[in-house]
Amino acid sequence: MNQISADELRSKYIHFFISKGHAQIQGKSLLPENDPTVLFTTAGMHPLVPYLLGEEHPAGKRLVDFQKCIRTGDIDSVGDASHLTFFEMLGNWSLGDYFKEEAIKMSFEFMTSAQWLNIPLEKLGVTVFEGEGDIPKDDESAAVWKSLGIKRISYLPREDNWWGPAGATGPCGPDTEMFYYTGDAPCSPDCKPGCSCGKWLEFWNDVFMQYNKNANGAYEPLTRKCVDTGMGIERTITVLNRKSSVYDTVIFSEIISAIEQSFGCKYSGEQKSESVDTDKSIRIIADHVRSAVFILGDPKAVSPSNVGAGYVLRRLIRRAVRHGRKLLSKGQQKTDENNEFGRSTQIRLSSIADVVIRQFKGPYPELEDKSVFIKNELDKEEAKFMETLQKGEHEFEKLLPNLLKDPRRIMSGRLAFKLYDTYGFPIELTEELASESGMTVNREEFDEAFRKHQELSRSQSGQAFKGGLGDQGEMAVKYHTATHLLHQALRLTLGEHVAQKGSNITAERLRFDFVHDTPMTSGQIKAVEDIVNEQIKKDIPVSMETMNLEEAKKSGAIALFGEKYETTVKVYTIGNSQHDYFAKEVCGGPHVEHTGVLGKFVIQKEQSSSAGVRRIRAVLEQ
Ligand code: ALA
Repeated sequence: MNQISADELRSKYIHFFISKGHAQIQGKSLLPENDPTVLFTTAGMHPLVPYLLGEEHPAGKRLVDFQKCIRTGDIDSVGDASHLTFFEMLGNWSLGDYFKEEAIKMSFEFMTSAQWLNIPLEKLGVTVFEGEGDIPKDDESAAVWKSLGIKRISYLPREDNWWGPAGATGPCGPDTEMFYYTGDAPCSPDCKPGCSCGKWLEFWNDVFMQYNKNANGAYEPLTRKCVDTGMGIERTITVLNRKSSVYDTVIFSEIISAIEQSFGCKYSGEQKSESVDTDKSIRIIADHVRSAVFILGDPKAVSPSNVGAGYVLRRLIRRAVRHGRKLLSKGQQKTDENNEFGRSTQIRLSSIADVVIRQFKGPYPELEDKSVFIKNELDKEEAKFMETLQKGEHEFEKLLPNLLKDPRRIMSGRLAFKLYDTYGFPIELTEELASESGMTVNREEFDEAFRKHQELSRSQSGQAFKGGLGDQGEMAVKYHTATHLLHQALRLTLGEHVAQKGSNITAERLRFDFVHDTPMTSGQIKAVEDIVNEQIKKDIPVSMETMNLEEAKKSGAIALFGEKYETTVKVYTIGNSQHDYFAKEVCGGPHVEHTGVLGKFVIQKEQSSSAGVRRIRAVLEQ
């Protein structure tokens, strides 16, 4: 078979499914709207969840698209031959239209027909769900595959042949996965996916969405059954072009050449003549820059930061910079043995970003539209990180005389953690500097301190999901005060029956659920916005007093019905005094000191949340 490019595969897939009555829809943002359960779009089906759960899609019941995805769960494995953080997924969907038989027949035709992928039958094997509890073994799918001539069929358990939900709740069901044999020919007559020869590689998945996993963890059957499929472009290109690593395919060849040029190094890939370490660093830079370009190029602007998606972006960029430095220092050591260890070098990931943008701007024109922003942000983050590195190096040098007094030449892990925590100085660099002075770092102690730190931030971000109170970033604090203003403005506009049912705050927006049983009119929405903005304009002070719960209620403070409070509570008052105030609530805080700093309050959406409860999403324009 001829070599196939990603552009060809994308276009074949879309055309095939259009010829089968599917409408092509636009892939969506990498940053999911309104879904606190995941930071990024992790699969092609993600933006389609509401439709898989029963909503009508305006484009119909048969859809096809390609979708950019990010999965960061395996970020530390990137560098080997197969892991990626960014990938593209092709997908076709049936929303209550065809189900198992037709889906499998179409997959089979696309894979095997000479007009499409032309994969020889003997190279293909499939897996189906073996059943569990009340959910039966998927003999139906197996029978369809058999009727088409596929003989190598494995029945596998839930961990292999069950998909979803993408977050904690949502649509899910058994799947059938398609595998390609990467060796010459299956190793025995019984060889099939899962065989110990390890040569079967999965590249496509047809999921039969039959259930919705609800918040209690129960599987409710969906009245309208759907099909969700996902073909990973990078993997499919790897197997079809008979490569053993995705990094050795046409998808990465130009990006890797650019890295070789910028960093004066050589990628050996399948030839494996050069050092494994160099290949690893090159792959990390290639993957991370590609991901960073797509995140920065997303229509929803994200910049590197210390929270959420911005934090992932920061990690990707900094890890790429670190490996860039490594490559440069190797190159320099070769050319100039006396040169100081890679300290004043310039990385310029933005020059690699140029290649990524050029390669992907066809299917993803947003990358070109935002190319200036992408490159600026990369340059800025790189400069910031270099500064961090310099500070860290400086601190290390100050510590050095004391460290050298230890006859064992071991640097304590707690000290290494302090460099990391205070200056953001990566442990790998501390180890590198330590080894230059003939020392090692107590890595166990470092890992222990790091683990404790992670547990703490995890429990804090867990709280942020609950109500935003755990996240005390500047914007979250502003949103918190805005929520009190909104609550009171709603009571003034709609009546005293309005009571808070839920609140969720991120650095980007607030969401507020409250008791009220009819949609708000546009006049009411406008009135609420006006009231809140008036209070902001007046720049009223926000004050806090502690008192016992009874006193708090007597003083007129709103407390949430059904909420458990300590006997002594904090009461936040937005007003000039305890008697002349706009809003008073029992609350844990924190809040801004005066309302003038909030910016402009805008309600973006008002919708139903559940029976008798409305939901408002609002932003503060800065
Ligand atoms: N949603 C399925 C997957 O991502 C198709 O594998």
